[in-house]
Amino acid sequence: MIIGMLNQKGGVGKTTLSVNLAASLARTGARVLLIDADPQGSALDWAAARQGEPLFTVVGFPRATVHKELNHLGHGYDHIVIDGPPRVTDLARSVIMASEVVLIPVQPSPYDIWAAAEVVSLIQEAAIYKEALKSAFVINRRIANTVIGRDVKEALAAYPIPVFETTITQRVVFAEAAAQGLSVHEADPNGAATTEIEALRDELQRFAP
Ligand SMILES: Nc1ncnc2c1ncn2[C@@H]1O[C@H](COP(=O)(O)OP(=O)(O)OP(=O)(O)O)[C@@H](O)[C@H]1O
Ligand SMILES: [Mg+2]
Repeated sequence: MIIGMLNQKGGVGKTTLSVNLAASLARTGARVLLIDADPQGSALDWAAARQGEPLFTVVGFPRATVHKELNHLGHGYDHIVIDGPPRVTDLARSVIMASEVVLIPVQPSPYDIWAAAEVVSLIQEAAIYKEALKSAFVINRRIANTVIGRDVKEALAAYPIPVFETTITQRVVFAEAAAQGLSVHEADPNGAATTEIEALRDELQRFAP
């Protein structure tokens, strides 16, 4: 499966979810490639912070030709996760063209809900050429027991893109694990963050079998 993690808005959790989803897929025994398509190179920084053996391969390819190079780059891998850049529209288009499934992390804030219009229109544009393209929102940094946490699914329903049932809660372990180049599973195997990431992978694999 080729998964693009995309949102034009910065700081919504594209890299956090890319790294942890890639780690979760790798734990199933699959060969996983993470393509860092962001000029900031955050996924590469994550890999560089890591002390132990890599869980999966990470390469940097922050160019708007990623969809053309994908056959070459992704040869021999079962799953490819592409960590997209914020803002850069030509790169985002290329990531969408490369992907089978686009996941859009959104934070439960009205600003994030409004800003999602941009990536939704890029996806709709691409869907004209790519009929089989699938996409879904993933709510990230949900704060438990808040009204906005409950209302966000409703607000996102205004867009013609489904919202995953799985939500990822705001948890410090995501940042703590990243600082050491670890997945949340390695940092806290029995923790709630790990359970949520496993649920995300499971829902993704049911969404795009
Ligand atoms: N569920 C979460 N709980 C706690 N912190 C989180 C969570 N998701 C992301 N973060 C933190 O939020 C910040 C932004 O996350 P991240 O870098 O993954 O976003 P991004 O969309 O990749 O940003 P950019 O647009 O700059 O590439 C990071 O400090 C990260 O550790
Ligand atoms: Mg990022």
